[in-house]
Amino acid sequence: MIPGVRRLVVTTVVENYVDMLLADEPNVTRAGLAHHFDPKRENPIGENGVSFHVRLEWDRYNYNLLFDAAMSSQVMLHNAAALGIDLEAVDHIVISHGHPDHYGGLLGVLACRSAPVPVSLGEAAFMPRYLRLASGQVAPFYNLGFTPEAIEAAGGRVVVHDGALEVGPGSISTGAIPRKVNFEMPSKSIATPNALIQVIDGQMGPDSVPDDQAMVVNVGDDGLAIFVGCSHAGIINTVRQAVELSGRSRIRGVFGGFHLGFPGTPESKTQKTIEALQDLDVELLCPMHCTGMQAMMQLKAAFPDRFLLNCTGTAVVIEA
Ligand SMILES: [Fe+2]
Ligand SMILES: [Fe+2]
Repeated sequence: MIPGVRRLVVTTVVENYVDMLLADEPNVTRAGLAHHFDPKRENPIGENGVSFHVRLEWDRYNYNLLFDAAMSSQVMLHNAAALGIDLEAVDHIVISHGHPDHYGGLLGVLACRSAPVPVSLGEAAFMPRYLRLASGQVAPFYNLGFTPEAIEAAGGRVVVHDGALEVGPGSISTGAIPRKVNFEMPSKSIATPNALIQVIDGQMGPDSVPDDQAMVVNVGDDGLAIFVGCSHAGIINTVRQAVELSGRSRIRGVFGGFHLGFPGTPESKTQKTIEALQDLDVELLCPMHCTGMQAMMQLKAAFPDRFLLNCTGTAVVIEA
């Protein structure tokens, strides 16, 4: 069995929100008031996107993963500098799925490095994609610039995978996540008011985001930490798949978007999600981004001692 990491430092490089009033607490440091009021320091910026820097530490060496790359290169690079994240030292980049709030800063990250780095993602991340809103607004082919060629030209080494892939010591990206949970099934229709649409062989259809994947890091002898982008595959499907692939059931933390805030999501889905998370006995819940304010409040009420309001600049330490 691959040994788990002794110490894990999860820094939220980019998230929708910044809150300078959040205070440090055991194993959690913030880009808080002292950071924001220090005229010698730059402050991190919130942006509708996600990026985690995940530092794996053993006694004598470490390994650095970047999970997702936010919406823009400007914010991604600014925040990395403001938070002291060395992008040159990143050993592997994992992109959760082909939506711009997760890959948008990737080319900027690659361009600022001197050495190539693997970029792992699902093949469907490159599918032509549309967005159509109930208001009538349409964003056609919004991912036109996101291609394997562009990533390679910027210094990435594209690793397309469908199944699980080792991305670091005791760390995997899950690959495609089976959709099993009945309340997390994707829509079968593109007629829904707010629709993500993919194009396969010239035919439009509902975008189930088949490329959606998570990153899983083994912690110590029995634990795991799970990183999700938007959880288009469903947060419960994702956590269960992480447990299955890792062979570990002690879940030390789940970080990222739980996708309960998309317009039209029934409130009952949040309640069912809470019940399933209780069964999974997740020790630390960091729902962010597309989780949505309403679901965040419900999760906070359901898990008062396990919920952490994670925001841009928060660093969480998990020790074995
Ligand atoms: Fe997202
Ligand atoms: Fe997404």
